[in-house]
Amino acid sequence: MLYIEVGMNDVPLREMFCNCEKTVIKTRRIKMEKLAIKGGYPVRGGKIFYGRQWIDEDDIQAVATVLRSDYITCGPKVDELERTLCEFTGAKYAVAVNSGTSALHCACIAAGVGSGDEVITTPITFAASANSVLYCGAKPVFADINPEFYNIDPESIRAHITEHTKAIVAVDFTGQAVQIDEIRTICKEYNLTFIEDAAHSIATKYKGQQVGSLADMTCFSFHPVKTVTGGEGGAILTNDEEFYKKLVLAHTHGITHDESMMEGAPHEGPWCYEQVSLGYNYRLTDFQAALITSQLGKIEIFASRRKEIVKRYDEAFSSVPEIFIQKEISESDTCRHLYIIQLNLNQLTCTRREFFDAMSAENVQCQIHYIPVYWFPFYQHMGYKKGICPNAEEMYKGIMSIPLYPRMSDQDVEDVIHAVKKVVANYRR
Ligand SMILES: Cc1ncc(COP(=O)(O)O)c(C=O)c1O
Repeated sequence: MLYIEVGMNDVPLREMFCNCEKTVIKTRRIKMEKLAIKGGYPVRGGKIFYGRQWIDEDDIQAVATVLRSDYITCGPKVDELERTLCEFTGAKYAVAVNSGTSALHCACIAAGVGSGDEVITTPITFAASANSVLYCGAKPVFADINPEFYNIDPESIRAHITEHTKAIVAVDFTGQAVQIDEIRTICKEYNLTFIEDAAHSIATKYKGQQVGSLADMTCFSFHPVKTVTGGEGGAILTNDEEFYKKLVLAHTHGITHDESMMEGAPHEGPWCYEQVSLGYNYRLTDFQAALITSQLGKIEIFASRRKEIVKRYDEAFSSVPEIFIQKEISESDTCRHLYIIQLNLNQLTCTRREFFDAMSAENVQCQIHYIPVYWFPFYQHMGYKKGICPNAEEMYKGIMSIPLYPRMSDQDVEDVIHAVKKVVANYRR
């Protein structure tokens, strides 16, 4: 059978094929609809955003219960969250903190990152991954990404190692696990600390194991667009007791109540505590902890709905030559936080900006993840030059995150697909 995709408006083409003998024609209705940005009707009435939280009545109840209790911070709900995270991930220790950013900062402190050190990370991430290195007075060094998986390329990591390299902050971008085995091998070879920025990847598995106990330290974020949320919040997980002790100190002023860690100031009574290092107030409140724990109870539901939507998007876009979709390493069973389409701009008559604006006019609000970190003026002023990570810069030119969150209805998903195909059809070269 000759399968021909013919637009509704391509009347001469349809007639030409219809008159051909021995040709079976299946026409698909790909009406060339007028773009909303050019005065046509949008694919949907209400705006849909690229991500949003899913809060139910039981989450609200969990928060309300804490608000009516004795402890709204430094209480039992933080301990419960830490235990739940350990059970879920298989990690030995967890420290809950007030953001993914503070999680990364604490991990860098625990790794001993300081002045004169270099830490290798990716430019395709939120600025916090690199900023946490700067907070410690060290230098972020940007390794390039793999152009198909979009994660940091282990070969590029190797190429950037110097005698000053202290750690690697590898980001599970969009939720896909980084090449953990390769990065672990590099860390072992050069005695580096492997910090996994898993802000996007809670519920992702690598070779069947939950992200959380695979790197030396793993950092989660509980920002509202992430898979589970506390409004704000974060956590660091580790199997290493020494890292754990340092993380505990770092997130609460460097102060300890643990006698075994005190240095001998007179221990006059149960009120005694000592500050033994310089730390921060990065504590999470108990009501946020309760919200995150409640959300974790539904993580399988959130993850499976995300996977369903990703599967539908993959099916819809894999045959569209104007769009590249992210490839995955076989080891990663990914709970996707972001769905990125990469526009093949050679096949389109529009710019990325025109595509983005056309999607907005269709009431599908996209986002761009991410501008390469070292392009920001703050980094440029420190002397980072454009062009240092060509794969990242090339990828950045065409990417766009389309809506992905578990509460999207099937109709929402179809609307997004419709909008993408409509914009592609209008700008097809
Ligand atoms: C990759 C990555 N790392 C770190 C962070 C920082 O997390 P938070 O916003 O919880 O501080 C984010 C947040 O968006 C992120 O996407």
